[in-house]
Amino acid sequence: MKRLLARFAQNTGTATTVPTQAGPAIIERLAPWRDLARLQAAQHPMSDAVIDQIDGRQIRIGQHWLTDFASCNYLGFDLDPEIIEAVPEYLARWGTHPSWSRLLGSPRLYEEIEAELADLLGAEDTLLLPTITLIHISVIPVLAATGAVFLDARSHRTIYDGCVGAAAQGAVLKRFRHDDPEHLVQLLRGCDRMPRLICLDGVNSMTGNVPPLGEFARIAREHDALLYVDDAHGFGIIGERDAAELCDYGSRGNSVVRHCGESYQNVILVGGFSKAYSSMLAFVACPTSLKNILKVAAPPYLYSGPVPIASLATVLAGLKVNAERGDAVRADLHRKTARVLDCLHQLNVDTPNRTGFPIIEVPLANPDDIDAVGRYLFDRGIYVTLATYPLVPRSQVGFRIQTTARNTDAEISHLLQVLRDVAERFQFQARP
Ligand SMILES: Cc1ncc(COP(=O)(O)O)c(C=O)c1O
Repeated sequence: MKRLLARFAQNTGTATTVPTQAGPAIIERLAPWRDLARLQAAQHPMSDAVIDQIDGRQIRIGQHWLTDFASCNYLGFDLDPEIIEAVPEYLARWGTHPSWSRLLGSPRLYEEIEAELADLLGAEDTLLLPTITLIHISVIPVLAATGAVFLDARSHRTIYDGCVGAAAQGAVLKRFRHDDPEHLVQLLRGCDRMPRLICLDGVNSMTGNVPPLGEFARIAREHDALLYVDDAHGFGIIGERDAAELCDYGSRGNSVVRHCGESYQNVILVGGFSKAYSSMLAFVACPTSLKNILKVAAPPYLYSGPVPIASLATVLAGLKVNAERGDAVRADLHRKTARVLDCLHQLNVDTPNRTGFPIIEVPLANPDDIDAVGRYLFDRGIYVTLATYPLVPRSQVGFRIQTTARNTDAEISHLLQVLRDVAERFQFQARP
């Protein structure tokens, strides 16, 4: 094992003491991870960090206090007193952890959440499983069977992994260009395998943008295919549009299908509570007939450990808070995010964000600056996600700012000042 690790370090450029000798071909193929491994080996403070303490959105790493702009707790439910106070009562009634698989026994809380969630989404039914990753890995192969999967080329890695599982079970896997419905139609016309599954992201986890969902849904219906959408980020933030909405995110946070004014005909929506709702739980919105099949065909329902009671409790409390004051929280989040986007516009710094969603990727002009830019931000007390190669193409290497409703206006003002200072020291990609 030691030798294997040493070879990995050597091949990824993370070790200086390992003698140079060729590694086995399988290790050499890990070379694309070199940039990421180098950041970690150089102990970059924004890679693999241990958070020692939090205070609101202030986080302490060792001796450094920083403002957190890397969390996906968009609505700030992780720190909401009403949600935190709801947990002990559930623990008193149910204990800490129901160690049955769901098929063996599900606390009634699951049923309550599934019904309430179906109502919020306007879907026929929902099925809860612990994480989206588990859903992709288990549900995509069931839906694809020995037919064909059409995958958006920039889909989230976890969707890809589910598709690879489907291919291993006999489905053919075809990739269409990102957000390109015409390319998808070409591939559908050239393939007669059935059933057909089209997989893509809802709100994109890097750009914050929304795909042309209406067009993809129409294509799915015309080609007798099922559209499978992962809206990990959008759920809880974007929702149905109406005249009374407080901001462009729409109302109720009921996800991308409702936001785009679409129906669930030929559409399967997957989402999770681990971002906007700060809870470990995920769902598939689908017809009850399919839910019943997944209960026996999707291994996590049969075999996986369930989520802790505290998580079910924070979901139930979060749904209540969402109904009572979610739209006001989203309007505040929208306003804070707009402050950051306006600043970048004034600096003529490009970002792919076209929606005002609280994911703001800032690509660098020179990808090799990423290490130094990350250190500068850290030293100035700003904690962001570094987008390194190969997690993103080299042309998009940079950093990602995520705003949450719990970031204060003073914290946003500090971020804007630091962004102005960074722009004086490093080159960003200019707006087109
Ligand atoms: C688009 C997308 N899908 C899936 C996941 C993984 O979700 P989970 O933690 O529920 O497995 C993420 C997490 O970042 C994501 O961004």
